[in-house]
Amino acid sequence: MDDFSKATTTAREFITLSRHVLNQEGTFSADAYDLSALLGRIALAGKMISRHLSRAGLIAGALGVTGEVNVQGETVQKMDQFANQVFIRAFEQSGLVCRLASEEMEEPYYIPENCPIGRYMLLFDPIDGSSNIDVNLAVGSIFAVRQQSTATEHAGTADFLRSGHEQVAAGYLLYGSSTMLVYTLGKGVHAFTLDPSLGEFILSQESVMIPPHGSTYSINEGNFWQWEEPMRQYVRHIHSQPGYSSRYSGALVADIHRILFQGGVFLYPGTMKHPDGKLRLLYESAPLAMLITQAGGRATTGTQEILDVVPEALHARTPLIIGSSEDVALVESFLGS
Ligand code: AHG
Ligand code: MN
Ligand code: MN
Repeated sequence: MDDFSKATTTAREFITLSRHVLNQEGTFSADAYDLSALLGRIALAGKMISRHLSRAGLIAGALGVTGEVNVQGETVQKMDQFANQVFIRAFEQSGLVCRLASEEMEEPYYIPENCPIGRYMLLFDPIDGSSNIDVNLAVGSIFAVRQQSTATEHAGTADFLRSGHEQVAAGYLLYGSSTMLVYTLGKGVHAFTLDPSLGEFILSQESVMIPPHGSTYSINEGNFWQWEEPMRQYVRHIHSQPGYSSRYSGALVADIHRILFQGGVFLYPGTMKHPDGKLRLLYESAPLAMLITQAGGRATTGTQEILDVVPEALHARTPLIIGSSEDVALVESFLGS
């Protein structure tokens, strides 16, 4: 036995994200290289955000609020702005992405030097679960990649106002006890874990499938009296059943990650005051819907599949019921959908 075969490395440890994307595409075409480079830039942004988060308590001015309110009317955290800038910088002069849309920017961000060649748009939530930042709990980033059709600065938002079926890639980064990147190109769902000593995302699980049923339900029950009666009936039913556990972290990415691996359902329904709920379609619900659907699960507004929804505005919201197919179907049986 030679030294190499005695070593404890496994073949999987050599599967980095960029290599995996190329393998997934199955070709060495320009498109495959572009997507591989694109995921590589997202991974780079994720590593920079992860590094900043891991030392946030020691960096002057990293935590707390900026004093501004974003386009959603929500308080902006310094980390939201930092992460938004990181994604923009990661794509400047990349030749990959012409326009970016984010929760933290009212209008799409235009990168003129990329436009003659960059054929993709990036939609992202730079920090998901912002209220967890100052208390050192898990947060995430969500992303989706779509084909660019208009490469001009004043194209408006029409390009973005398409259904989730037009997503070419989608996924999230989870900044938890380890940093993970989970993505799909429409060919299954694959999970990578950041090895900080290598600075590389290494494949940790390929072709993840969500269990058809799970014991977790994930919903903010503080809103109980704001929901319509059918949603209250569903939750009362869950309370009356043995074997269900409530898990709600305040970060959609973290709750979805648990559900992807262990099954269950996440709900952010509309309320009487806000019938479309809280979560934004283009950079929260639709990317996660693509991912969970690819893993064999379901995502619906309660009346329509999330992937079929065509938004009327860049920051449009939708109710979201997402997770294991049987658990989503149970919710639907209460909603009469
Ligand atoms: P964001 O931090 O990007 O604004 O998203 C927060 C979202 C989501 O992550 C989480 O599931 C939900 O808001 C929590 O909202 P509530 O506090 O209303 O439950
Ligand atoms: Mn979010
Ligand atoms: Mn956010």
